[in-house]
Amino acid sequence: MINVSKIKKGIVLDHIEAGKAHILYRALKLDEVTDTVVIMQNISSTSMGKKDLIKIETDYDLDFTVLGLIAPYTTVNFIEEGERVKKIRMEMPEVVEGVLHCKNPRCITNSEREIPSHKFYLYDKDKKEYRCEYCDNLTTYGE
Ligand code: CTP
Ligand code: ZN
Repeated sequence: MINVSKIKKGIVLDHIEAGKAHILYRALKLDEVTDTVVIMQNISSTSMGKKDLIKIETDYDLDFTVLGLIAPYTTVNFIEEGERVKKIRMEMPEVVEGVLHCKNPRCITNSEREIPSHKFYLYDKDKKEYRCEYCDNLTTYGE
């Protein structure tokens, strides 16, 4: 197996479903990060069979809110001085911006006149339903 060294300081996103790291990379806008980023794909895992992993060596606090929507089982590990100091999982966010698209074809957000970033509000946690701020239509992530 390829050996990727441990990081000194930063964030490790662990237990990503195999093959999905690139989706998280895009959603988290990691292409805009100037720090070192390592994406590992199809690593063998005892609990998952295979998994993906992303390591970001950074001093900055990144916003992982969107993970609660697109990959709620991802573990976010915070590393300081080579040691993991915190491990969290994101909750489903109350407000989502710039990820969902309204399912209502007549919604203003789907018109030619583009609305740059509009909000969706969590409506039903179990069904993963979000309400469009413009037309109140419900949209489920992944459908
Ligand atoms: N890690 C890293 N650099 C460090 C410490 C940890 O890149 N300095 C990575 C590890 O390679 C692992 C993840 O962070 O992928 C979590 O590491 P660890 O704290 O060792 O926890 P595990 O027991 O592997 O994971 P868990 O407790 O989540 O099952
Ligand atoms: Zn709408």
